[in-house]
Amino acid sequence: MCGIFAYLNYLIPKKREEILELLVNGLKRLEYRGYDSAGVAVDSAASKDISIIKKTGKVALLEEEIKSRSNELDVSGTVETHCGIAHTRWATHGIPNEVNSHPQRSDPRNGFVVVHNGIITNYKAVQTFLEKKGHVFESETDTEIIAKLIYHFHEQHPNYSFRELVENVVQQLEGAFALCFKSKYFPGECVATRRGSPLLVGIKTATRLATDHIPILYGKEHRPHGRGEFPTLPRTGSTSEFEPLEDKQVEYFFASDASAVIEHTNRVIYFEDDDVAAVKNGSLSIHRVRRGGDDPHKREITTLKMELQQIMKGNYDFFMQKEIFEQPESVINTMRGRMNFENGTVTLGGIKEYIPEIKRCRRLMLIGCGTSYHSAVATRQLLEELTELPVMVELASDFLDRTTPVFRDDVCFFISQSGETADTLMALRYCKLRGALIIGITNTVGSSICRESHCGVHINAGPEIGVASTKAYTSQFISLVMFALVMSEDRLSLRQRRQEIITGLKNLQHQIGEVLKLDNKVKLLAEDLYKKKSLLIMGRGFNFATCLEGALKVKELTYMHSEGIMAGELKHGPLALVDETMPVLMIVMRDPVYNKCMNALQQVTARSGKPILICEEGDQETMSYCQKSLEVPKTVDCLQGILTVIPMQLLSFHIAVLKGCNVDCPRNLAKSVTVE
Ligand code: G6P
Repeated sequence: MCGIFAYLNYLIPKKREEILELLVNGLKRLEYRGYDSAGVAVDSAASKDISIIKKTGKVALLEEEIKSRSNELDVSGTVETHCGIAHTRWATHGIPNEVNSHPQRSDPRNGFVVVHNGIITNYKAVQTFLEKKGHVFESETDTEIIAKLIYHFHEQHPNYSFRELVENVVQQLEGAFALCFKSKYFPGECVATRRGSPLLVGIKTATRLATDHIPILYGKEHRPHGRGEFPTLPRTGSTSEFEPLEDKQVEYFFASDASAVIEHTNRVIYFEDDDVAAVKNGSLSIHRVRRGGDDPHKREITTLKMELQQIMKGNYDFFMQKEIFEQPESVINTMRGRMNFENGTVTLGGIKEYIPEIKRCRRLMLIGCGTSYHSAVATRQLLEELTELPVMVELASDFLDRTTPVFRDDVCFFISQSGETADTLMALRYCKLRGALIIGITNTVGSSICRESHCGVHINAGPEIGVASTKAYTSQFISLVMFALVMSEDRLSLRQRRQEIITGLKNLQHQIGEVLKLDNKVKLLAEDLYKKKSLLIMGRGFNFATCLEGALKVKELTYMHSEGIMAGELKHGPLALVDETMPVLMIVMRDPVYNKCMNALQQVTARSGKPILICEEGDQETMSYCQKSLEVPKTVDCLQGILTVIPMQLLSFHIAVLKGCNVDCPRNLAKSVTVE
C-alpha cells in the first residue's frame, strides 16, 4: 500500500545530500507496506524550481538514480529551511511506471507537487473539468487531478495561503486519501491532510516541546460560494497560526506510519479525518473547515514507545522469520498485565467498563480480513462455549456486500493487525451507525480502527513488518480467548474449564519454544514440497482455522496453490483431488474430533494419499498411519491451534526461501490494504 514520507527542516542547515538520504530512508522504512515504484520531490539547486526524481521498482533503484544525478541536484549544497516529499506507490490507477509514480505535478514547471495514499473516486469528473480549462494530463493516476486542481485554485485566488488552497481542493475530493503537498510558490512550507488513509507527523526540536497538544483552528461556518463547477470556500481570515514551539528550530516528519518517524523522534500527532495540517514559518497548525460533533478541539502529541530495533530484522534474514521466532515473547506481551495466573483472573482494561453491557448483548459478531478473519474462526467455538451467545464470524468485504442486519444490542469486534484495513474499517462504521457496540482488536495504537472503536484490546504483539501475518495471528487468538475468559468469570459450572485454559495459557510460551525447535525438520519437509504444484491442508474442529491460515500462508508466500479443507467435507468434493501424487497435510490431535479426523485420514490413505501429519507429541498410534509427521506439544483443545499453526508458518517460510520468493513482500500483496 502506498507510503507517504515528508521532511521539513526549519532554520536547521542541512546538506541536500542529507535531506535526500533522509527521504530515501523514510521510504525504506515504509517498504514493508508493499509498493511498485517510488519517488521524491525536493527544491532544485539552481533555481526556485522543484526537482522530481521517480523510479519504477525498489527504493534502492531510486537511491541509485539520485546518486547518478548528484551534480544536477547539487548534493553538497546546504539549505537552512526546506521541504521534501517522498512516496512509495502501490498501483491502483495505471500501471507501475515513472509517469504514474508520485509525486504527481500540477504542470511542467512543477508549481505544485503532491503525494497520495488512497483512491479518489470522483477523479474522472474533476479531470474532465480541468481538461476543459486547458490542463493537459500526463499520467493515468487519480492523483494527478489533485496537483492540477490546486494549481487551478491558485490561479483563481493568487492571494490564498497554501493551506487555504488545500482546504479548497479537499472539498472537491471523494474517496480515501492522505496527501502531502509541496509548492514552489510556498517554499519551506508543507501542507498535509487525510480522509480515510492514515497520516501522522513527528516533531523534533532541540529543547522539550512547550505543549502536549495542538489546538484546532476552525473555519467559520459557511457554505462554499463562487462561480463554476468548483465553488471555493471564503478565506478563513487572519486566524493567527498557533506557535507551539519555544525553540524556533524545528524538524517535521510526515508519514503514513510511525516506523518511518521513530528513528528521528518519538513525539507524534495522529491526524484525524479532514484535519488540514500546515507548516509555515516553522509553526505547525491544524485546521478544520467545519466544527465536528464530538471533536476534542485539539490534537494530542503522543509519545511513541516503539523502539527502532523493534522494527529492524535483528539476527534474522527476514522480518517474517524474526516475527515467527518472536512468538514466545509476543504471546507473553499480549497477556502481560491481563492474566493473573496466581489467582486465575483476567482483566482487559480496555473493555472492562463495557463488560456488563456486553453480557446483555444479543450476539457477538467478529469481523476481519485475511489472517485476522482466521483468528475469529479459530476462537469462535470457545466464544460460543464460554459466552453461550450466538457468534457470527464474517469477512468484512462479504459482510458489507450483504448489507447484513445489525442491531443496537449487537457487539461487533473488528480484528485488524494494522487497524487500517479499508474493508474492516468500513464494516466498523456500518455497525457503529446502526448503534452496535464496537470493539477494536488491533496491533497498532492510534490506528483508525482503534480511534473509531468504543473500546478495545491492543494485542501488543509489537510491529509486524513481514506482509504475511504471523505473530499478530497468535496474539489476536489469545486476545479473543482472554475475552471469552472474562465473559465467563462468574460461571461456576465453567470453573474447571476456565482453569484448564488459564493453565494452558501459562504454558504457551514454553510450548511455542518447543514447536520452534521443529524448524529443521520443517525445512526438510519444505525440500520435499517446494517443487509441487499444490498442497491440501485438512483438519476440523479447533484446528480448522489452522488449515485456512496455513493455506493462506502457503499461497501468499510461495505462490503455490494451497487449500484449507474442512475434513468433514472431504466426501463432498475434495476427496476427488486425492491420489498418490497430491501433497496432503493433515492435523490430527487427540481432541473431541479425533475419531472423525482419523476417519478422514483413512479416507485419504485409502485413495493412495500419503499425508504428512501434524499430531500430538508421542502419539505413536496416529503416526503409524503416515510416513512423515511433525509432533507438537499437547495443550488444552481450544488453544491447540496456536501450536499447530506455527509449523505451517515455518513450512510456508521455508518453501518461499527455497523457491527464491520475496518472503517479506510477496508479489501483488500489501501489508496494509487501505483501499476496498
Ligand atoms: C492484508 C495482509 C494480510 C492481513 C490482511 C488483514 O491482506 O497481507 O496479512 O491478514 O491484510 O490485515 P489487518 O491489518 O486488518 O489484520
